[in-house]
This record gives sequence, C-alpha cells and structure tokens, in this order.
Amino acid sequence: MDYLEISGNKRLSGAIEISGAKNAALPVIAATILSTRPLTLANLPNVVDIQTLLKLLDMLGSQVEHKGTHARIDNGTMRSTRAVYEIVSQMRASILVLGPLLTRFGECEVSLPGGCAIGQRPIDLHLKALEAMGAKIEIKGGYVRAEAPGGLHGAKIIFDKITVGGTENVLMAAAMAHGKTEIINAAREPEIVQLCTMLSVAGVEVEGVGTGTITVYGTGGRTLEWREPIEIIPDRIEAGTYLCAGAITHSELTLERVNIEHIQAMIDKLESMGCRFTIGKGRITIHAPETLRPVNIITAEYPGFPTDMQAQFMAVATLAEGESLIEERLFENRFMHVSELNRLGADIWLKGNTAAVKGVESLYGADVMATDLRASSALVLAALAAEGTTRVRRIYHLDRGYDNLEGKLEKLGAHIIRKRE
Ligand code: EPZ
Repeated sequence: MDYLEISGNKRLSGAIEISGAKNAALPVIAATILSTRPLTLANLPNVVDIQTLLKLLDMLGSQVEHKGTHARIDNGTMRSTRAVYEIVSQMRASILVLGPLLTRFGECEVSLPGGCAIGQRPIDLHLKALEAMGAKIEIKGGYVRAEAPGGLHGAKIIFDKITVGGTENVLMAAAMAHGKTEIINAAREPEIVQLCTMLSVAGVEVEGVGTGTITVYGTGGRTLEWREPIEIIPDRIEAGTYLCAGAITHSELTLERVNIEHIQAMIDKLESMGCRFTIGKGRITIHAPETLRPVNIITAEYPGFPTDMQAQFMAVATLAEGESLIEERLFENRFMHVSELNRLGADIWLKGNTAAVKGVESLYGADVMATDLRASSALVLAALAAEGTTRVRRIYHLDRGYDNLEGKLEKLGAHIIRKRE
C-alpha cells in the first residue's frame, strides 16, 4: 500500500492550478445516462472516484473513452440497469445513477451503499422522493429495486433535510418525468447549479437554479440532446485545502482556475484568522501571517461553511494562538482525524459534535492513518507544518478525490514523496 512521507516545517511558494470538481463531475457523469447521444466532458479531475463511476457506466454497456481531463461518453448502447455492489461499495456516489436509470429505462437495481467512515449516510430521502414521483421501490438482497413502467411523474418534493445527492437524483429523475417537479428545501451547492445548467442547456426547463426551490418541467420520457462539451467547474474543496496549506505554513501562494464566489466561506474564515488575499480573475493569492488567530466554525449547507473543509480547518487551528471551536452539523461521525492530529501533538478535545482545538506551539512528525478523504488531507496539512517527518498511511482515500496532490504540493516546494510499504 502507498503512503506519503512528508518532511514538514517548510514554507511553500509559487502557483498551482485547481482541477475540476469531483463532486460536480460525478452527477454530470450520471446525468449523461439521460441521453442516447454521445457527450464530451472536459476538465475532469484525475481521481479514482471518477474512474469508478466511468467503470460503472462501462459495465452498464456504455461506450466510454477517457483520456486525461476529457471523457467521451456514449450511453446509446447502455443495456443493463443493474449497478452492482462491487462498484457501489467502492463509492457511495454511485447511488446517483438511480434517478437517471429509473427515469430513462423505467426500472433499475442499484446496490445499497451502506454506511461509511463519516456517518450512516442513509438514502431514505432519495427513495421517498422517487416514490412520490411514482416509483415502486423494494429493498431486497442488499439492492434497491425500483420500477416505474410508464415513466415517472412530476411531484412536489419537500426534503426534510437538505441533501446534495438527493437533490441531484431528483433533478435527473425529473428531467425525463411527465410534468412538473418542484423541489422544496433543495441543495444550493455550485455542483447542483452545474447539473441544473447541464439539464437546461439540453432543453429541460429548470427554474430556481441556485435557490432552495427548484422547478423542473420533464420531457415526458424523451431522452435529452446534449450540446457539447461540458466543462466541469473548479473544485472549491481542493482550492480551500490549498489555501489551508498556505495558512498553516505561513506562506504566500497562488491558486489559478478557481471560482472565488464558491470559496467565499473559506476566505472569510481565513481572513478572521489573519490571512490576507489578493484576488484576480480566476486566481487568488493567500498571504498568511506568522501568527494565526483562532477561529469558530459551524458547518452548514452552501453557502455556509462546508463540512468537506472542517477537517482541514481543524488542522490549521491546531497551530493558532488560542482556542478554536469547530462544530460539525452535517455528519455524525466526521471527527476521525482528531485522534490522528493529536498524535502529531495537537491538543483537541471532542464533546458531542464540537471540537475544542487549543493551539499549540508546534506539531511533530509521526505515523498517522488516513480515515476518509478530507480527514486525509487534514493530516497532510498538519504534516506540512510539523517538525520532522510524517508518514500518512492509507492514502487511497486521498487518491479518490485529490488530483495529483503530491505533485501540486511539490510544485509549491513541499518535501513530499509517495512510497510503497
Ligand atoms: C455530498 O454527499 C458530497 N458528496 C459530500 O462530499 C459532502 O460532504 C456532502 O454532500 C455534504 O456537503 C458528493 O457530492 C459526491 P448529503 P451526499 O445527502 O450527497 C443526510 C467528499 O468528501 N441524509 O447532502 O451524500 C446525510 O446522512 C464527500 O467529497 C439523510 O439523512 O450528502 C447527511 O447527514 C463526503 N438521508 C446529510 O443528510 C438521505 O437520504 C447531508 O448529506 C440523504 C442524506
């Protein structure tokens, strides 16, 4: 198994480009199922999760040509509608094929994703919404079996809780349903906006894009026509992670190909910690101070502070002067990085869903274990600032969602090497 060896306590400098957003690319890839026409996607990140979803489409009978940041997907030859456990268990986001498969083919079987390191992550809201749209759903043998022989019909969906994946599944299902679907308490993430834009460019009428109420007028069973290609938006979480790398190493570094609006919540928090920014068109430079101030964070849905940045900010807070409070409101178990950060010398106490982070003078290199994607990047950030050498193990989590992490950090001057046990 690969691990990363990082010699820390070095300043970073220079510029890197931010890749396309994994969490925007996944629903876009799933949405290609809504058409029998080929579509080219550009600016895909080179990460394992994207390969996994493309492999699933390939298993369903699609023609997929994937090279670098581009993929050409032709779902005209798609024959199977069964998303098997072997793929879904590797990546929960495979559940995103449920809505588009069901609405296009009138039936499908998708393995239940099960829990994961950050929490239970049920899909009850996805299923309830599809049932409201006329689907007959049965859970048997670990699979969700869904049927809607005459197609789905529009409905008023009121989500009890804001769900990104649930909103995406309903949007895709509604695109080919009969009639109007109204989604109340919809997610407003930039990734949702990209999906809505993709659907409307393909001729589906979508209202309320980027708001909490989205209305979709379905095509009544007609497959969609793409206008190629689709360019995936920049990864706001990758950008935020590198801004944290600048902050924790007291550096000045520049990110290119970013959407500033999407990272505003992170900029605000870093500013409150004493960082300054120079912002240009699609680029941002962080100027980090010698001494960071503590920060209080409560995770929330977009445009609030993203749960996907909670671990990375906790890493930065370990070296701030004073006590930070970080409250996780979205997932019940997203603190697996706490004990690993403490192994590096951090002083973090957990009480319920809040972490009290007392800033320390220094962190010290040690062996640590990655537990999920963002927890892993938090450990890498801490290692960049720690004195001595840190080995971050189980980095397959990182490979799922960070495009060329060590290459980009190396370009910024970090001492980081990928090694094999
Ligand atoms: C997406 O997951 C992201 N994944 C996650 O990023 C991100 O952390 C999350 O949204 C929140 O922003 C992708 O986009 C592929 P949710 P998703 O449905 O859609 C509960 C990363 O590191 N819920 O918005 O699965 C759920 O348990 C990943 O890149 C239900 O109760 O998240 C959670 O508490 C990790 N029932 C809350 O809602 C449901 O049916 C929000 O989850 C669905 C969700």
